[in-house]
Amino acid sequence: MGINFISLILLLHLLVTLLCSHGDQARELSEKENKSLEIQHNHHHSHMNHIDPSLMVFFTLKDLKVGKKMQIYFPKRDPSTSPKFWPKEEAESIPFSSTHLSYLLKIFSLSQGSPQAIAMENTLRECESKPIKGEVKFCATSLESMLEFTQNILGSKIDLQVYATMHKTKSSVTFQNYTILEILMEILAPKIVACHTVPYPYAVFYCHSQESENRVYKVSLGGENGDKVEAMVVCHLDTSQWAPNHVSFQVLGVTPGSSSVCHFFPADNLIWVPKLESHGSSSM
Ligand SMILES: *[C@@H]1O[C@H](CO)[C@@H](O)[C@H](O)[C@H]1NC(C)=O
Ligand SMILES: *[C@@H]1O[C@H](CO)[C@@H](O)[C@H](O)[C@H]1NC(C)=O
Repeated sequence: MGINFISLILLLHLLVTLLCSHGDQARELSEKENKSLEIQHNHHHSHMNHIDPSLMVFFTLKDLKVGKKMQIYFPKRDPSTSPKFWPKEEAESIPFSSTHLSYLLKIFSLSQGSPQAIAMENTLRECESKPIKGEVKFCATSLESMLEFTQNILGSKIDLQVYATMHKTKSSVTFQNYTILEILMEILAPKIVACHTVPYPYAVFYCHSQESENRVYKVSLGGENGDKVEAMVVCHLDTSQWAPNHVSFQVLGVTPGSSSVCHFFPADNLIWVPKLESHGSSSM
């Protein structure tokens, strides 16, 4: 375990301490969290299509070039209302399973059939669904479990590096045309673990890794209103195992395996890769 990894662990522990709200696990959802769950729910789709088309614009590798203009939806979640990480011990002291849904609804004081309850159930079912061929997936209910999963996939002896989309300007515009200003870098990674936030009363990440070839890029985007975004892009070169009804195929008008599929990552989603020395200085 390298020194960098140890500093990463320390950093994450600091984050956990900062982000975790105190109080007992049976605490009621605050109105804010409730609201946030509801908002997330509205943007939520099930299974592999866990990303609403409006949240994620899909494109093909040939469109990844400077000067290309496209409409992109970048959700911006207010950190004060986003679900907080729970420490592993606390998260693992209650079930994370759709078979315990009514018990969980009681814990979080959610009424059956409410938008929040439906969002929770969708998340649990999505987390319980089988991965596609060549894919490993895991829903992390804490930062620690996200790290453990990531290390299992990428290797326990290597240093990890994490990338995320960063908004360089403050504006509330979430949907507009952006132009690709620069391909800042291609991150050469033999394997990646992508972690997406999913609606739940506390922070849960849907993490997955595909064996097939992926490419990871960091690009600089300029919005029509002057917004600057350093956005992460993942391109899946082999989509042959994806469900034919995957939303990206509908958006792009292509069929599984016939085309690469690239997508932008919203700001609070993470891309874990093995750390490569040559890219060491440009991480987040
Ligand atoms: C959460 O939202 C539901 C309906 O969406 C509402 O009935 C309930 O009172 C809310 N709970 C809290 C704690 O705000
Ligand atoms: C992006 O630009 C196109 C053409 O210039 C326009 O039709 C479209 O409405 C714009 N989209 C947004 C979200 O502003």
